[in-house]
Amino acid sequence: MLREQLACFLQLSADELEQRLPNSTEALASAHPGALDPSEAESFYESEVGDGHLYELAAWHLGSADYIADTLRLQAEIAHGQHLDFGGGIGTHALAAAQLKAVDHVWMVELNGSNRRFVQHRAEALGLSHKLTCLRDLEAAELPKIFDSLTCLDVLEHLADPSAQLKCFAQRLKSQDGVALLNWYFFKGHHNEYPFHFDDPEMVNLFFSTLQDLYLERFHPHLITARTYALR
Ligand SMILES: C[S@@+](CC[C@H](N)C(=O)[O-])C[C@H]1O[C@@H](n2cnc3c(N)ncnc32)[C@H](O)[C@@H]1O
Repeated sequence: MLREQLACFLQLSADELEQRLPNSTEALASAHPGALDPSEAESFYESEVGDGHLYELAAWHLGSADYIADTLRLQAEIAHGQHLDFGGGIGTHALAAAQLKAVDHVWMVELNGSNRRFVQHRAEALGLSHKLTCLRDLEAAELPKIFDSLTCLDVLEHLADPSAQLKCFAQRLKSQDGVALLNWYFFKGHHNEYPFHFDDPEMVNLFFSTLQDLYLERFHPHLITARTYALR
């Protein structure tokens, strides 16, 4: 279904889409300017990436379906009430969360306009528009002040200040029963496949220090890379 939705959204034939998917990570990496100053990260995702993440994330989710399925199982255990998906990409997790009975509404925050439009297109195709809202950033007035749960998968390593993002989540997550589902990959890859990931050791130390100050990990049996947290 993702293939059909993406081909329809991009107005490509099935064959044209298949040709674009295999090289999508390299294409995104080559769009990257190299040593990106953290202060330029937001404008890279908002203005430079364009459709690049649609292809790259679709190729990844289709090629790693078992892993993505585990993250969705895990999300299904924690998502409830007003649920935030921060950096929601092509909407795989946001759309799945919107189908959960325990979830009242999904708020997907995503800098990239192509991604937001694609997720809205998918939500309409799936009859989920009434339960999913896509917004650019956490300052949007429509957003709840406090979320019952949040998902932030494969995003923290793209941010100029992942520690500040953790602090912001802690302020917006319900103190009782609130659960955050997080992962991170502060690594550019063995062959610089992911030049857009930040890996500065001081930034990473500060991230872990904030994580340990503010959050308590909850055990789950699904994956060791994606973790769930309550507030301390
Ligand atoms: C690697 S993708 C992950 C997408 C999705 N969470 C997933 O697991 O498939 C990272 C996403 O974060 C978005 N992003 C990067 N910086 C952001 C920011 N400051 N605010 C919101 N979204 C951001 C990018 O546009 C991109 O869609």
